[in-house]
Amino acid sequence: MLEVRGIRKSFNQTEVLSGIDFKVEKQEVVAVIGPSGSGKTTLLRCISFLERADAGEMIFDGASYDMTKVSNRDIRKLRMEMGFVFQSFNLFQNMTAIQNVMEGLVTARRIDKEAARRTAEEVLLKVGMSERKNFYPGELSGGQQQRVAIARAIALNPKVILFDEPTSALDPELTAEVLGVMRELAKEGTTMVVVTHEMGFAMEAATRAVFMEGGVVVEEGPVRELFENPKKERTRQFLSRTVPPKE
Ligand SMILES: Nc1ncnc2c1ncn2[C@@H]1O[C@H](COP(=O)(O)OP(=O)(O)OP(=O)(O)O)[C@@H](O)[C@H]1O
Ligand SMILES: [Mg+2]
Repeated sequence: MLEVRGIRKSFNQTEVLSGIDFKVEKQEVVAVIGPSGSGKTTLLRCISFLERADAGEMIFDGASYDMTKVSNRDIRKLRMEMGFVFQSFNLFQNMTAIQNVMEGLVTARRIDKEAARRTAEEVLLKVGMSERKNFYPGELSGGQQQRVAIARAIALNPKVILFDEPTSALDPELTAEVLGVMRELAKEGTTMVVVTHEMGFAMEAATRAVFMEGGVVVEEGPVRELFENPKKERTRQFLSRTVPPKE
């Protein structure tokens, strides 16, 4: 469904991505794990064209794009098919929850206001935020804001949603709320790429895991296989520090 090949990206002569191949199939949930600085966020930013890759090819829905040359028009088109949920919720502070969800529907999708409102009501219900739909972000907890951000992404009905550590700014209780919503989306067959430190969530909700370090994919595979029986010593070391030992 979405595939990238040979992504390279440098910042000031330091190569941060050194030829990443990555793909997500329809209805797959791919967990991207790896130490801080390994290039996970940069990978998502290149895939979403917030950063321009120095090399790489993207295949989306069967069409292929040179990531260094893709036109702004194609970028707009590709971005319409992707949803984004980042660590810092990025809601418009001067709009209520429901206005935040309606915004993209009305401006980017040109859906009329009443239809947008109905869609927004539906997705806010889904993430458990109906009661607070008229609250401003400043009046919501971090977990609630993040659920609104997820509602905003799913309202646009993207083919794939990219999450970058959606819970890392949240305390454990709020993390659980947000992971609960994501687990539901996974169950419904939403195609997702999730950069996460939540190994429990990855184990339970992801179908495949990709372990990155130093700008390359060290190892990838079905989540359980990768977690329980990693092939590379480096993966084993990383997991032994992050996955709590079994009872
Ligand atoms: N805009 C930028 N300019 C310069 N260097 C950057 C920029 N963005 C990222 N980097 C560097 O690229 C490397 C990878 O960063 P990235 O944010 O992709 O890592 P990460 O795997 O997401 O880490 P974390 O788990 O801490 O979020 C880091 O060394 C970082 O300093
Ligand atoms: Mg990051």
